[in-house]
Amino acid sequence: MPVITTIADLKRLHKRRTPKMFYDYCESGSWSEQTFRENTSDFDKIRFRQRIAVDMTNRTTASQMIGQDVAMPVALAPVGLTGMQCADGEIKAAKAAEKFGVPFTLSTMSICSIEDVAENTTKPFWFQVYTLKDDDFMQRLFDRAKAAKCSAIVITLDLQILGQRHKDLKNGLTAPPKFTIPTMLNLATKWTWGLQMLQTKRRFFGNIVGHAKEVSDPSSLASWSAEAFDHSLNWDRVAQLMKMWGGPVILKGILDVDDAKKAAELGADAIIVSNHGGRQLDGALSSIRMLEQIVDAVGDLVEVHFDSGIRSGQDVLKALALGAKGTYIGRAFVNGLGAMGEAGVTKALDVIHSELDLTMAFCGHRDIKSVDKNILLVPEDFSGRWA
Ligand code: GLV
Repeated sequence: MPVITTIADLKRLHKRRTPKMFYDYCESGSWSEQTFRENTSDFDKIRFRQRIAVDMTNRTTASQMIGQDVAMPVALAPVGLTGMQCADGEIKAAKAAEKFGVPFTLSTMSICSIEDVAENTTKPFWFQVYTLKDDDFMQRLFDRAKAAKCSAIVITLDLQILGQRHKDLKNGLTAPPKFTIPTMLNLATKWTWGLQMLQTKRRFFGNIVGHAKEVSDPSSLASWSAEAFDHSLNWDRVAQLMKMWGGPVILKGILDVDDAKKAAELGADAIIVSNHGGRQLDGALSSIRMLEQIVDAVGDLVEVHFDSGIRSGQDVLKALALGAKGTYIGRAFVNGLGAMGEAGVTKALDVIHSELDLTMAFCGHRDIKSVDKNILLVPEDFSGRWA
């Protein structure tokens, strides 16, 4: 058994053990992948101030996100097709999150359904929705989430149309995979994945198949999003959806100060500064570059969360120090899941927690809630002077 000390170790195992089309789905950005790359490389430009002779005893990373207690301010992000990374993937990830004490967010584009996850967990999870045209289906999703006792809805606002990820087209991505010759050849090298998949009945989009109106190919994310998503989305519709749900709402996909102000005005419980992991608008600025300006503009009005680019506890600490009250990991937990199932997600959370806790201590803090920008060295032009 290899010794795992980083998310990169889990990523290597994920690549080895999971069919290429699903690993590539996780590790892709749109078009040239510039934004996908800069989401991580921009984190490297920020450094920490090393402090010494400070009390490092009795440390805590416990905090709150939208008023809910969390063992560390790191939630599992909604990620589509997670149940294709390994059998029953969403259930396994939700269980790991529950045991760790961090929120799990189920994607609408999941393989395990809302009901599957609710039946296999004991604590409320969060549910993510896209903005769809079909009001009946949206209402039914909200009703199902309520029945499953979901404690918040995350509304994704940066995906009315799907960004093009070249690898998904080249791989012919579907869930479950179609039996083409290249796919069969690749699956033949992934025995454990295949045997576990044969033992579960959850191999289709569990929230959609059997629930949504006919789509031309119910196994394809691309065709479902093209047919069902509301391309004419506007802020009135967002307000309407918030009302239809009637509970705590997190608005995801904010990368612009004006949009952040609008989201705060609507009364969201939190916003997520995010560029969808570089999967939508390639050429957008990295999420971490935009964070501070958005916190400065709306941090007093709404809780600001952060995603896109986090691969370590140091990254989490940098985002918190720049003003985020909560963060999300997507690829980092999926790497763990594809590598080792539930144990791999727990490992990913352990790695991130340990890096977060120790880095916080080296920076002279014992309580994650006391961390601020003073711990960082940020290049003067980090936010950039973009005309
Ligand atoms: C779905 O949200 C995706 O980015 O593939």
